[in-house]
Order: sequence, then structure tokens, then C-alpha cells
Amino acid sequence: MTGFGETGFGELWETLLPLGRDPETGGYRRYSYTDADLACREWFASAAAQRGMRASTDRNGNLWAWWEGPGSSGKAVLTGSHLDSVPDGGAYDGPLGVVSAFAAIDQLRARGFAPARPVAVAAFCEEEGGRFGLACLGSRLLTGATDPAAAGELRDGDGVTLAEAMAGAGLDPQEIGPDEDLLSGIGAAVELHIEQGSALGGLGAAVGIAEGIWPHGRWRLDFTGRADHAGTTRLADRRDPMLPYAAAVLEARQAASSCGALATIGKVTAEPGAANAISSSVRAWLDARAPDQGVLDHMVGQIESAARRAADAQGVEVGVRRESFTPPVEFDPALRARLAAALDARGIVAPVLPTGAGHDAGVLAARLPAAMLFVRNPSGVSHSPAEHAEPGDCAAGVTALAAVIEELAG
Ligand code: GLV
Ligand code: MN
Ligand code: MN
Repeated sequence: MTGFGETGFGELWETLLPLGRDPETGGYRRYSYTDADLACREWFASAAAQRGMRASTDRNGNLWAWWEGPGSSGKAVLTGSHLDSVPDGGAYDGPLGVVSAFAAIDQLRARGFAPARPVAVAAFCEEEGGRFGLACLGSRLLTGATDPAAAGELRDGDGVTLAEAMAGAGLDPQEIGPDEDLLSGIGAAVELHIEQGSALGGLGAAVGIAEGIWPHGRWRLDFTGRADHAGTTRLADRRDPMLPYAAAVLEARQAASSCGALATIGKVTAEPGAANAISSSVRAWLDARAPDQGVLDHMVGQIESAARRAADAQGVEVGVRRESFTPPVEFDPALRARLAAALDARGIVAPVLPTGAGHDAGVLAARLPAAMLFVRNPSGVSHSPAEHAEPGDCAAGVTALAAVIEELAG
């Protein structure tokens, strides 16, 4: 692929592209500690080695590569993103930030920049929660935002625990938990990410600066009814969990629309899964996001009430459990101002945007100054194989990130 400019991005990008891509859908299935993820981990180690950067894996399975010049000291500048994906995710969500980080370092080295502070490239583990269900798991564990013992017991769809998966990958699950030594050595974090919307396109800008992240979370809805024969059970005698599930889906759309928020049921399983039987149970996951906490609570309450009402009417039991939650995030105003000034000084126009998408930088923001750069996504589509960024915009992202690293590590 060409058009990435002189940033060195293209070569590295090409080596990552085939890993974990499904040949049928063209989407990525890079789930933590699977073969695809292990291949991405090897790719990261090799990218670090090619640059003479010291690489390590922390106690939570997050990957680190360090650029430490002879004169660098003090707290590090952290950049990077994640390499895991949602089911059939796009190529850019996460990897764009990791590849851009290495390419920005290449660019800075090529112009003889010597960092006064160490620069760390990180790839956080299980950002999407695609295997174990808890988004930003690696950064939550690092910062102490989630309980290590409970995390170790999280199970994937086949019943494998996080602890077992980590042990299978040669890591010690006894070590899972906050890492204050590592955290205390970081002065600021800047994650570059593809925009997951199309605002930059409308504004005619290749890169933007994140303002903050909407509060958001995931709730698991368990509807338990009674399996029965589809051809003989009278409608009045059924306890069909599919009906309150359907009511919850419709209410999610209705409540989100009336609240000016977002609610999505994108994953559902039905047991036993026969076309000619009423289901015994339906499990669905609600993803809800809103501009503020009050609106989010109100909307989720409305959806839960509708699910309970419909379940009662059908003689179905319903359980609602919050699986993850991220409070509102406002990225550090002083750090954002430094980013804006560094970009402005180089003539880079970078509008400020809010987002409803979750990011490791949002989790890190609770413990240290954090900020984000977004790269234009012409269609705005994300969490889909159709996700795309133009090569010239990827190059612009690398140049912007290099400017930011130069400002923070100089
Ligand atoms: C992460 O991509 C999210 O779900 O917001
Ligand atoms: Mn994502
Ligand atoms: Mn992401």
C-alpha cells in the first residue's frame, strides 16, 4: 500500500494487517491470548527489537516497549493503544495507535530528536472485552480500577478463565493486579485512535483532539422461561423468554432516542437454540452510553423496567447485572492545551471532539494526565470490517503524534 508518506508507517502496517484477519469477512478476530493475539504480541516484540527498544510484558498482559536515550530521565511519556479486536472488527481500532507510535518514534529519530524523558509504547490487553467481557481490562487492572481476583475468574464463551488463558500464554495469573511502580514512572499518556464517527470529515481536518468520553457500561440481561414444543404449546401456556428480550431491544431504541443517548443490544444467545422449540433462556448484553451520568442511569432504568414488565407478563424470570462501567472522563485540560499548542505551532488544525467510545486513555485518566488524538475516518464506520482511514490521514496522525511526543518528552 502506498500514500503513507515518509513516516515509515506503511511498512509496519503491512506486517500487522494479515494477523487475525478472517478471510471470509475481512474482519479481525484478535481475542486476547488466542493464536491471533499471540501473533500480534510477537509482532509487537519484533517491532520493538527492530528499533532497539526494550520490550516487556507487565503483570496484566499489557505490552511495553521503551525508548530511552542516553540522556533521558524522569517520568515517561506513554503512547500506544491496543491490538485486540471486537468480533470482525476493523483494522484501525487500536492498531492505528500502536503502529503510529512506533512510526512517530522513527520519525523523531530520523530528525535527530533525543528524548529528555523516556517514551513508552504500550499495547493494552483486552481493550474491547471481546473475550472476557470487561472492556479496558488491561488498563483497569494496571490502575487498580477493577478487582484482580474477580478478573482472574472472568470466563470466555467456552468457560476458560482469564487466569487459565494467561497461564496458557506463559504469564503468571498470581501476579494480576495494580502496578504502582510502573504507573508512578509515567508522567503523561497520549493515545492516538481512529475516530469512531465522522466529525473530522465534516470539519475538513485529518486529526483532532479528544475532549472527553461519555459515561458508559455493559449490562447482562438473563431471561429464563420454559422450553416447550413450538408446534403444540398453546400461546397462553407459553413462558417464552424471547418476548421480554424483544421488548428490551425495542425499549433500548426508544429510550435512547428520547434521552439523546445511545443504547445497543448487539449480542444475544438463546438456549437450547432449536428452531422448533420455545427457548428456555435468552441472554442479551446491553451497551448504554450517555452525555452524563444522570441521563445514563435514567435510560438504563427505563430499559430495565420495560424488560421486567414484559417478563412478568410472560411468566419469565429476569436478572440484570452490570458487567462493566466507565464514569465520565474529561481529558486533562493542561495536557490538552499542550497538545493543541504543539500542533498549532506546526500548522496542524486539530478540532476538539467528545466521544461515546471507550479507550484505555480514559481509564488511565483517573490516575495520570491523559489525552487522545483522533485520525479522520471518512465514513465514520467502526467495529466493522468497513472501518477505514486514508493513508494520507494516517501519515498526518503520525506527524501529529511525533509533534506531541517531541513537546512532552523534549
Ligand atoms: C470500545 O471500542 C468501546 O466499546 O467503546
Ligand atoms: Mn473498539
Ligand atoms: Mn479502540
